[in-house]
Amino acid sequence: MKFKVPRGTQDILPSESWKWQQVEAIIRDVCELYRYKEIRTPMFEQTELFQRTVGDTTDIVQKEMYTFTDRGNRSMTLRPEGTASVVRSYVEHKMFGYPDQPVKLYYSGPMFRYERQQAGRYRQFVQFGVEAIGSADPAIDAEVISLALDVYRRAGLKDLKLVLNSLGDGESRKAHREALIAHFAPHIGEFCTDCQSRLNKNPLRILDCKVDRDHPLMASAPSLTDYLNEESAAYFENVKRYLDAIGISYELDPNLVRGLDYYNHTAFEIMSTSQGFGAITTLCGGGRYNGVSEDIGGPHAPGIGFAMSIERLLLALEAEEKTFVDEPDLDVYIVSLDEEAHRKGFTVLNDLRNAGIRADMDYMDRKMKAQMKSADRFNAKTVIVIGEDEVKENVVQLKNMEDGTQQKVKDSLLLEKIKEQLK
Ligand code: HAM
Repeated sequence: MKFKVPRGTQDILPSESWKWQQVEAIIRDVCELYRYKEIRTPMFEQTELFQRTVGDTTDIVQKEMYTFTDRGNRSMTLRPEGTASVVRSYVEHKMFGYPDQPVKLYYSGPMFRYERQQAGRYRQFVQFGVEAIGSADPAIDAEVISLALDVYRRAGLKDLKLVLNSLGDGESRKAHREALIAHFAPHIGEFCTDCQSRLNKNPLRILDCKVDRDHPLMASAPSLTDYLNEESAAYFENVKRYLDAIGISYELDPNLVRGLDYYNHTAFEIMSTSQGFGAITTLCGGGRYNGVSEDIGGPHAPGIGFAMSIERLLLALEAEEKTFVDEPDLDVYIVSLDEEAHRKGFTVLNDLRNAGIRADMDYMDRKMKAQMKSADRFNAKTVIVIGEDEVKENVVQLKNMEDGTQQKVKDSLLLEKIKEQLK
């Protein structure tokens, strides 16, 4: 066939989409529990928004964005992530003026990154994320982490690990930056050209380079933790204390720097520890970003959030050999034996649906046996059979598929009987 789904994207067929719906329902429930409200932003934004926030020297901006010039000669980019758009919207709609701060938002939708396709890595993927903007209380960092873990736990995942780090504030970062430059500069010729250009622009990015990952200087690089100033260290202590208070365990990883530039203070990832999971074990990533609002012309508005892809959540469920319960498709399937019966069946179908009963019938003019097979495949709890006699007598045959019993029911009593049976 000539046309195929584009590389790095996938069709979610009905045999899978019901799982997505279950995850989406869990997400809605958990967000409601924590009072996060949904925000929907456009799928593309001005390119400059991502350059300013995600950062010019990141892999995302340098190599992975779907950028195009629109007919008005503006540079636009399909969103590679959600935080930039949400903060843009927060500033544009002056949400900083809302009486209740922080503003707690969540989103779920497709994101686009031109990445090399592999298990768990797509070019279009769906991120669920939350952003709490307007508070610098370390308790909200713990709330956001707890929300992410709650979503995974409710979905049934057990093999999870929370990894935590602090990137500190501007002052701490500056001290660390100088130490990094001093560490890498004498040997920078041994690194890739991207790293060479990052050395003076943004040496922290060298640490998450995929090409030079195994260079010995990586492991011995100065750790941010040693450069946290007093205020940053105290903030991080408080975040940990709040996590401890609600029984969330974590592993500290001083090398966790995250791949986006806007982070400061708390950075975290949730990984799958399941044996069956592939090479990419990060399920969710997030952290604090206190400067983004100001960077794009808004007021000071400290924020924290995370994002997780639904694709990886479903892969983790598979790795743990868990799945959701597949709900029966149908309450009632109507089997009709001739044209008259088909016409009657169609009106019965309409009455059932109007009464909120999930119902369907055959549209392929098939024999009774084939129609009964469909009823089985759809897991119909009840089957209505209509033939010539049933049309004449104003009745139908009602078959209870759970216990196999069958009874003749008058048309006028049908809805009542079915409701009784479905209880
Ligand atoms: P990120 O670490 O770039 O952070 O992505 C977060 C999550 O999105 C990853 O942990 C993974 O689940 C999923 N993800 C990323 N790229 C792909 C891909 N190519 N295929 C499948 N899944 C993928 C962010 O995007 C930040 N905006 C998170 C955040 C929100 N920080 C603060 N607020």
